[in-house]
Amino acid sequence: MDNATQVRLIGEVFAHLDAKTTAQASDIMYHETSAYYSPERLAQEKAILFRKYPLLMGLSGQLPEPGDFLTDDYSGVPIVVVRDRGGDVRAFLNVCRHRGARLVEGCGKAGRAFSCPYHGWSYSLQGKLMGIPDQGSFAGIDKEDRGLVELPAVERDGMIWVIPTPGATLDPDDHLAGLAPELANFGLADYHLYETKVLRRSFNWKMVIDTFLEPYHFGVLHADTVGPLLFPNLCLFDGFGHNLRETLPRRSIETLRSLPEIDWDLITHTAMVYVLFPNTVLVMQIDHVELWRVYPVADKVDECVMYLDFLIPQPVETESAKRHWERNMDLTIRTVDEEDFPVSTGIQSGMASKAQSTLVFGRNEPALAHFQRSINEALAAGS
Ligand code: FES
Repeated sequence: MDNATQVRLIGEVFAHLDAKTTAQASDIMYHETSAYYSPERLAQEKAILFRKYPLLMGLSGQLPEPGDFLTDDYSGVPIVVVRDRGGDVRAFLNVCRHRGARLVEGCGKAGRAFSCPYHGWSYSLQGKLMGIPDQGSFAGIDKEDRGLVELPAVERDGMIWVIPTPGATLDPDDHLAGLAPELANFGLADYHLYETKVLRRSFNWKMVIDTFLEPYHFGVLHADTVGPLLFPNLCLFDGFGHNLRETLPRRSIETLRSLPEIDWDLITHTAMVYVLFPNTVLVMQIDHVELWRVYPVADKVDECVMYLDFLIPQPVETESAKRHWERNMDLTIRTVDEEDFPVSTGIQSGMASKAQSTLVFGRNEPALAHFQRSINEALAAGS
């Protein structure tokens, strides 16, 4: 983030602190509870949000070398993302063109080619069918036509984007609607993956993202953990198309008042939350990045799965560094898992009871309203 933006945002924080206010939506918003429990709604979300929109598959540091690959099945199609020999990132359906076996599992290094574990057909990292054992038995096959099915994939500013639909057009700049230069400034390509955790929980996928989108609950739910570090009920909000930036000031930001603006550093004194529509939350912490990518599980309205990728500025080379990042990751997971997610589980069961037909978002919850309104708009436009 450039210095002028940091100074402007810090100025807005000070203005809110002085006036005892927070960023406000233009009005309160009533939101249908069926968005969280309707199977029809989930089917629509899967068909539109998880098929037609660019999904962030990870950061460049997760595929540092040619041959490195990762897989993803949660969008609803089996995807393998790989860095090819020329250094480009490519994505394919993780499906062998012989009889459909999965080529690879999890993440790892493919070497120079993918080799199918069933009968040994091999594919280059650019998806070309290279080898067929006992090729004579497949006389007449057009190898050019039996390469892996490629998906649109773009690596930009350290982020790897894929649309899980062959032939779709992928333009990250268009998708990010003005946010791309700001994200580029963070130098995400230079971060190293410390660890990925996969969490599966019993509530609608959108609730994971909801929990990041207002500090109104900090003083109550997190009163004894992260709450004291941040201001309860104070945030800045900016929308970028369907994406958003939420700025959560730490109490330490007050120390900047006595410094010249040229020395103002926003990142040290905030948690910066970005929602990269539709299912990614990027949290810029003081010294690391959390990447949350959330998916529904199959056709279950009340089940979600999320990846938490923990990205750090330097590779871990000492035991003390390892302990430092272990503690950091542990605090992150305990905060959401012991405080936020139990509330989400309760909300989901309350939804199922149909006790009420709408939720209400206050004017002090503008990021939450923006996220849910963006989903409503995307579904309306996509149907
Ligand atoms: S299914 Fe892959 S080689 Fe047969």
